[in-house]
Amino acid sequence: MKLTARKLFYSLPPAWRFTARRLYFMPLDLWEKMTGQRDGLTPPRGMIYTGGGDFRRSGEQSVELFKKLCGLQPHHNVLDIGSGIGRIAIPLTRFLNEKAIYEGFDVVEKGVVWCRDHIGSRFHNFRFKYLPIGNDLYRENGQPASIFQFPYADSSFDFAVANSVFTHMLLDEVDNYLGELSKVLKPGGVAYLTFFVFGEKTIWPKGFDFPHDYGHYRLMDDVVKSANVAFEESHLRELVSKNGLKLRQIHYGFWRGLPKSECFDFQDIVIVER
Ligand SMILES: C[S@@+](CC[C@H](N)C(=O)[O-])C[C@H]1O[C@@H](n2cnc3c(N)ncnc32)[C@H](O)[C@@H]1O
Repeated sequence: MKLTARKLFYSLPPAWRFTARRLYFMPLDLWEKMTGQRDGLTPPRGMIYTGGGDFRRSGEQSVELFKKLCGLQPHHNVLDIGSGIGRIAIPLTRFLNEKAIYEGFDVVEKGVVWCRDHIGSRFHNFRFKYLPIGNDLYRENGQPASIFQFPYADSSFDFAVANSVFTHMLLDEVDNYLGELSKVLKPGGVAYLTFFVFGEKTIWPKGFDFPHDYGHYRLMDDVVKSANVAFEESHLRELVSKNGLKLRQIHYGFWRGLPKSECFDFQDIVIVER
């Protein structure tokens, strides 16, 4: 999305943004429904509030990366932090076996309801929770993410993912989520987390330059603070280890102007291990 269009879009209240998207895609969604072009495991375009691009393909690519970079196995118990409208869950239905448990949670009820109705109803080891936690990009209000406790037993997951979620959360919130993640991962469990990270040498791309400087983090928009958030790499490393996790690797993304062919994804991928 171009800078001015993005500004305009963010200036709408969250509920209006959902409606604007539904209306914009309504003709195409109707057409795809009438002609049977959309299978039951693909949400209508107007409901995909979690970003652009090819929804099904990008989910499949992410799962390939979980296998390659994190050693995800078919029997693993998986936690999907910010499960959205099922981009990650859908391809996992073809990879995880019946013994594996998938748990996803999100702060947007519409997405969780869609996932329950379309994924959870067919795959009974896939569970989705709606949790009314605050995030000014996605909701009007909610409980603070900075003190929220994950509703799962300690040491219960082999693998966790937060794909394009910490890029929409503030520093104290991410700090808390890393602590919660550390509790619910099994010893040796691995997590795939995406971020925008910066350091002293970062050359900010034009139009994607996080102009609002808060020290250890920078914001793209000062009004809708969770619109896009970047974290100072050295501070993020401290947070990871303070929360009992080991940083295995950072794979830098092409948002920072690196050639696409050298990157796995647009965002930076941070792999941590408990
Ligand atoms: C860009 S979307 C990505 C969704 C999904 N991970 C994917 O890859 O399609 C960001 C998601 O994070 C969710 N989110 C925002 N704040 C959250 C929080 N504090 N806890 C859990 N999910 C959150 C949003 O509701 C949204 O579904």
